Amino acid sequence: MRLLVCGGAGFIGSNFVRLRLAGGDEITVLDKLTYAGRRENLEDLDVRLVVGGIEDPGAVADALEGCDAIVNFAAETHVDRSIAEPDAFVTTHALGTYTLLEAARERSLRYVQVSTDEVYGSIETGSFTEESPLQPSSPYSATKAGADLLVASYHHTFGLEALICRGSNNYGPYQYPEKLIPLMVLNAMHGDKLPVYGDGMQVRNWIYVEDFGRGIGTVLERGEPGEVYNVGGPDEAPNLEVVTKIIEYTGADDSLIEYVTDRPGHDRRYSLGSEKVRALGWEAQVRFSAGLERTVDWYRENRAWWEPIRSGDYRAYYERQYGRALG
Ligand SMILES: NC(=O)c1ccc[n+]([C@@H]2O[C@H](COP(=O)([O-])OP(=O)(O)OC[C@H]3O[C@@H](n4cnc5c(N)ncnc54)[C@H](O)[C@@H]3O)[C@@H](O)[C@H]2O)c1
Repeated sequence: MRLLVCGGAGFIGSNFVRLRLAGGDEITVLDKLTYAGRRENLEDLDVRLVVGGIEDPGAVADALEGCDAIVNFAAETHVDRSIAEPDAFVTTHALGTYTLLEAARERSLRYVQVSTDEVYGSIETGSFTEESPLQPSSPYSATKAGADLLVASYHHTFGLEALICRGSNNYGPYQYPEKLIPLMVLNAMHGDKLPVYGDGMQVRNWIYVEDFGRGIGTVLERGEPGEVYNVGGPDEAPNLEVVTKIIEYTGADDSLIEYVTDRPGHDRRYSLGSEKVRALGWEAQVRFSAGLERTVDWYRENRAWWEPIRSGDYRAYYERQYGRALG
């Protein structure tokens, strides 16, 4: 396939690009290179990179030259940032998704929107299905839910070959260190405090990034237009258990754990039922403990990737967020 991968310089997008190149696809990446998008994530890969926003019709038209399908990862993705500064979330998720949908409609292209379990809100027991109501709780998840509804409308109204793929919490190589797992791994490696929100009992349904990438590929190739597919990981774990495992794998000290004021409106538990994508032949392959160990090893072995981040603007962000400096 000749794919346009929007947001392909970010965490999940760049892992997806790697998987698809190995499978023989030709790839163009359209990415605005925000703080989370990095050329380094695509280093040594044979892709055409167009630097621009998905909300810019000119950049989208340029990037789409010669492509026959679009997979859209481009997003602002950090819930804490959506609480502090929601405007970029509205621009990218609403205007950006609209601009891509219009371009796909003009050219009759297949379109996959990458979305999140967070659009369903929190669930105490059981798992969300694709029929569950959308009850997002943060500006991040609310704007992602809005984008999903717009995508569905383009199928319903214009017959666009559009599909939606909702993933659970991803982890793995190339994830920006503001997110729970790389944050804790790098802090543990440096002897910095490990800031745990509230009581640390927020449960997440962890999926290894390559499993999610293969799920998106399955939906792209075999999904039914107009349908939503949940792609959830094989294991659930509360944040505190994740941090404890990271302490074990890095050999850090338990005393680094520091309980900090919980995030406002913090969802308690996410859980996705993935039967529908399983019926297309997808299965998660990586269990959480094995994937987490692999991830810790990757951060240990790829200092050159995270060192410029940890010594750059990220330090100021961290200090604002947690009220203390990184060591
Ligand atoms: N990380 C997770 O756990 C998770 C889980 C489920 C779904 N998702 C979804 O997967 C997608 C990718 O998430 P991620 O964790 O890789 O995020 P990320 O923050 O690592 O990467 C986002 C990428 O999008 C780019 N981008 C942002 N705004 C843009 C714009 N206006 N135009 C073009 N590019 C833009 C950034 O430069 C970056 O490369 C998102 O849509 C997210 O909602 C993430």
